[in-house]
Amino acid sequence: MKHHDVIIIGAGAAGLMCAASAGYRGRDVLVLDNAKQAGRKILISGGGRCNFTNQKVEPNNFLCGNSHFVKSALARYRSSDFIELVERHGIEYHERDHGQLFCNDSAKEIVTMLMTECEWAGAKVQLRTEISKIVKLDSGLFELTTDKDSLTCDSLVIATGGLSMPKLGASPFGYNLAKQFGLKILPTYAGLVPFTWHAEQKLKFEPLSGIAVPSTITAKDGTQFSEALLFTHRGLSGPAILQISNFWQPGETISINLLPGVDARAAIELELANHPKQSLRNTLSHWLPKRLVEALFDENLLNKAMNQLVHSELEQLAVELESWEILMNGTEGYRTAEVTLGGVDTDELSSKTMEAKNVSGLYFIGEVMDVSGWLGGFNFQWAWSSGVAAGLAV
Ligand code: FDA
Repeated sequence: MKHHDVIIIGAGAAGLMCAASAGYRGRDVLVLDNAKQAGRKILISGGGRCNFTNQKVEPNNFLCGNSHFVKSALARYRSSDFIELVERHGIEYHERDHGQLFCNDSAKEIVTMLMTECEWAGAKVQLRTEISKIVKLDSGLFELTTDKDSLTCDSLVIATGGLSMPKLGASPFGYNLAKQFGLKILPTYAGLVPFTWHAEQKLKFEPLSGIAVPSTITAKDGTQFSEALLFTHRGLSGPAILQISNFWQPGETISINLLPGVDARAAIELELANHPKQSLRNTLSHWLPKRLVEALFDENLLNKAMNQLVHSELEQLAVELESWEILMNGTEGYRTAEVTLGGVDTDELSSKTMEAKNVSGLYFIGEVMDVSGWLGGFNFQWAWSSGVAAGLAV
């Protein structure tokens, strides 16, 4: 039976970060993962360029049952700390909208950096290892049975992520283990995920697939995001939709402003005054793609000249442009979701160390717990910050 000070299950973003932090403290660390490759989600993230953090990270960029929980870890390991690490490894990066930071070259550089950090810190990473049983011994140690051997450790860190993208190895391992040790799990949902059409909507909107427009989207609870909206074969996507999906419940409508930053009533009045004989179709086609205009509005209405439209029609037009209320069928689910909402209840964990309050030596980090970030590098920042918080404590 081999003993390690610390065993971390999950060689993803949070697990590797935790391993390096604990290793640098002189702890004997082993990371186990059942995958063939470490950091698989990092490799495909950000379109292969990994949006590894955000210039401006605030606690309100995260959804969590306890809104204060994230504060301590985010303050101890900031996005500026991760940026400094990236710079130390000579990785070139750039900033996109809303402070999002991406590698110039490839997400591979982030995985290489984390593996190098683990190596320098003396933390070992063992892949292709199935863990079949974990028990806590009377001595306080954890005993793990794997398909290779049996191991014991003082501290056990669970970094197995959420349920999103099962084809990348996502599994309920962390939730099952939390349950085994009596920790509460909050219901899980797919987050940062595209919406799907109802059958009749699909007939109407599927031909618009590929069209992207600026938008401001509002959820029922008033949360609002101004970003691109993308029509797809299956439904609606794009950053605005992914963001709003975190705040959406089945059966709720979303409200889409197709002319963000424009006063639709004033713009229509101006067109009416300046081009009274122009058809509504041509007027709207100055603002929106023609195919979208034709899918949204009635043919007879579009053929009318601006000065043939009665007041109620102009008013209705402004309402539909500024707050198109749409009831989507659902989401694409875990198959394409970037994150999992819900998970291990943070009330069960110390916000400083991520250790379970009632099971000494057991830690949960990263996405497995009930913390999910907005789109924009926040989920990786949570993996880094929670990983370091545990790495400094184990
Ligand atoms: P992560 O999922 O990274 O790692 C979990 C590890 O546990 C994996 O290596 C897995 O193999 C292992 N594991 C699972 N079950 C196991 C078991 N039974 N036994 C052993 N090992 C097991 N975020 C962001 O901030 N910027 C971005 O650009 C993106 N882009 C993005 C794109 C796509 C397509 C997805 C799906 C997700 C993103 N994300 C993102 C989200 C981000 O990838 C995610 O929040 C973090 O990877 C979470 O890190 P964790 O370490 O918690 O889990």
